Amino acid sequence: MDVLWGDETLFRNEEVFDPDYQPPAIFHRDSQIRDLAAFLRPAVRGRSPGHALCVGPPSTGKTTVVRHVLEKVSKHDVAVAYLRCPILRTTYNVFARIYEIACERLPPQKGVPLFKLLSEVSASLDGPIVVALDDVDFLDTRVLNETLLTLSKNAEFCVGVIAISTSKQFLARVDPYLGSILHFHEIGFPMYTREEIWRILHWRVVNGFYPGAVTREAFERVVEIVSRSGDVRYGLHLLRSAGIYAERRASRRVELCDVERAREGQESIMLAKSLSALNSDEREALRIIYSLEGDVTTGEVFAIMRSEVGLCYERFYEIVEKLERLRFIDLVFGRKGRGRTRYVIKRLERDAVLRALTS
Ligand SMILES: Nc1ncnc2c1ncn2[C@@H]1O[C@H](COP(=O)(O)OP(=O)(O)O)[C@@H](O)[C@H]1O
Ligand SMILES: [Mg+2]
Repeated sequence: MDVLWGDETLFRNEEVFDPDYQPPAIFHRDSQIRDLAAFLRPAVRGRSPGHALCVGPPSTGKTTVVRHVLEKVSKHDVAVAYLRCPILRTTYNVFARIYEIACERLPPQKGVPLFKLLSEVSASLDGPIVVALDDVDFLDTRVLNETLLTLSKNAEFCVGVIAISTSKQFLARVDPYLGSILHFHEIGFPMYTREEIWRILHWRVVNGFYPGAVTREAFERVVEIVSRSGDVRYGLHLLRSAGIYAERRASRRVELCDVERAREGQESIMLAKSLSALNSDEREALRIIYSLEGDVTTGEVFAIMRSEVGLCYERFYEIVEKLERLRFIDLVFGRKGRGRTRYVIKRLERDAVLRALTS
């Protein structure tokens, strides 16, 4: 049999599956790249750039596009500060990061007033600066407005701000006074279509795996799974994990079974997370529901719960509603004999839930 030996691998370049990998080829985002470049172009000529809001659901290429354009801009006499907002708690944190980038050294110890940091930043800049606030939704509203105010009121700064957000609510968080000075031009990032996802992931397969290492069937399955959620990042994760599973069984090709294993692995992690939100009665109710064959009525589940756990109906009802809220079950009305009956429908795969409950 033709199998992998020793240190042979299916991966030509595993790095292309890293979530932070900056691809040299960005597909289907030409108009966003052009728009953003147009707003920053004045900076390249030493003038004040415009401000932009890049907005769209997760995994639609916002970070990738902004980093790509910033890299081009930084080749000219423009300072570029790319900031990840989730790790910035205070206005001081924001400007300490800008200081670090602009002055190319760590900021002085805490206690240095903000204005001193700022004056050193402006002294070290001899041209415009572009500040990108990635995942700006994570920035506290007060910190956001203080940051924007500080950047815009400082006459020595020639600044362009790029805000990256998953929601247009960003504009509502900006103080109206600031909103009248800083005009954010909106650049939309729509969800990718199935064909677009196919092309983006296909480039990774061609560049990340050796030729012929991924069967067509396996790849199409990944595209199918990803196009349901539009989450390209998840697709990259699935491809890499499937590659690792294939290597583990010494196969020369990533096949459908490897993709299924990678998906199951990922789903069981998500399932474990939801289960951790349940107490012991709720887990017991879930176990009873999932161990009964076919669709059951709430009355049947209650009868078992009452004899096994001794619950009152109100508490039972709360539990069932919680299980529905957490998307473990659906409750639907139907007819059985006389009157209306509530049926409990299992939303998830039976074996996967029972397995997760006993592990
Ligand atoms: N148009 C594209 N071309 C190539 N790769 C892309 C494209 N859009 C997204 N990706 C990849 O998908 C993942 C998610 O993209 P990212 O830019 O982080 O999305 P967002 O910032 O909108 O959440 C990244 O690994 C990125 O490399
Ligand atoms: Mg991002």
